[in-house]
Amino acid sequence: MLEQTKQYVTWQEGDTHHKALWISQSNYEPPSRIVIVDDSTTAGEAYRLANAGTSMLWRGDFQNAKQLLQALQRRIDRAEERKKNKENKLANKSAKDAANDIPNLFHKNRQAQSQRARLLSRLILQLDENFVSKLRRAPDVSAACTAAFGKITEPCVLSFRDLQGALGAAQWREKGVPIKELGLSIYPHYGVFAPTRQEYVQLLLDAPLPSPCEVAYDIGTGTGLLAIILAKRGIKQVIASDINPSALACAKDNLDRLKLTDVQLQQVDLFPKQVPKANLIVCNPPWLPAKPSSPLEYAVYDPNSAMLRGFLKGISQYLAENGEAWLILSDLAEHLNLRSRDELLGWIDDAGLTVKYRLDTQPTHGKSHDENDPLYVARSAEVTSLWCLIRAI
Ligand SMILES: C[S@@+](CC[C@H](N)C(=O)[O-])C[C@H]1O[C@@H](n2cnc3c(N)ncnc32)[C@H](O)[C@@H]1O
Repeated sequence: MLEQTKQYVTWQEGDTHHKALWISQSNYEPPSRIVIVDDSTTAGEAYRLANAGTSMLWRGDFQNAKQLLQALQRRIDRAEERKKNKENKLANKSAKDAANDIPNLFHKNRQAQSQRARLLSRLILQLDENFVSKLRRAPDVSAACTAAFGKITEPCVLSFRDLQGALGAAQWREKGVPIKELGLSIYPHYGVFAPTRQEYVQLLLDAPLPSPCEVAYDIGTGTGLLAIILAKRGIKQVIASDINPSALACAKDNLDRLKLTDVQLQQVDLFPKQVPKANLIVCNPPWLPAKPSSPLEYAVYDPNSAMLRGFLKGISQYLAENGEAWLILSDLAEHLNLRSRDELLGWIDDAGLTVKYRLDTQPTHGKSHDENDPLYVARSAEVTSLWCLIRAI
């Protein structure tokens, strides 16, 4: 089980009082109101119950639960659309004006996402102490759950949504994410940032290495992708750090698969300890300065840009003479008015650094082309850069 304190959920079913371990990846509290639902429950009822804060423990057919969840999702989307149109009407805003009010849209979109996640998480199921479901037509979810949530020794209850997350992650882990520029695949683990958007890989291959380049750090290594690129580019001593223990386990797995066993791994906040100064320090920090709404979002959201600022601030202390730091950063936050370019340049300056050069690329991931995405205006303008930083003289 993850290192959180154990929490339990209790409910009454007929004459029997039940108690089970509560698992929630979003750290939701155990539900206090639970009703039993099955194949006879309609999407309308489920929607009403979810909105009333009641959790629904599923006792029907496993596959039917998936359909109910999809129907619930559609109802939530429709309700969200109605709410948005009503708000725009009240504020006398055309759909075009609303689409251009980016900061407002971002916050509204996050609120809607978190509300949707909460409502969908109201459909829950019970698994035994081996993560086996007794529901009709239930697949074997035990390996995926053990990989995601760790071993347990007692029955548990979790949301179908979290179960789906674990099953999805298990598939990624098995199939891998192909990194075509490198001709290899990366195998993400549950809860570790999956490199599905890869525009920055080419930037890391294109940037000329500083000379000499014997020692390099990869700060916030995630799956180990950047450390792998550095090792493959011939740097002898690569040290990769991450604050998340799952990321380090995942990086180790990927490095082992590629037989890059010389890369050192450290679980630390930012910079590795007791290692030589670096000729090159790379970092691809979470790129949006906002509060993560679940632990899984820590790779994307960086509250108050703490990691970004901590990284910039520490560079001078860890950099060898003539060394370079490569910051990989999307400017989406600038298009969302969450951070300004001047702020970023100010932090670089305050850290005693200067920009040697910058390489830019445009994201190619699906959302940047999806005109129906509420943040399309900002996403379509997004640029990801490799900022090559050196000590200011
Ligand atoms: C956007 S992901 C990048 C992962 C990987 N480097 C890549 O490019 O695919 C950011 C990573 O930084 C890690 N991280 C966040 N805060 C950190 C900190 N204070 N110290 C070290 N790592 C941190 C996260 O756990 C996550 O793995």
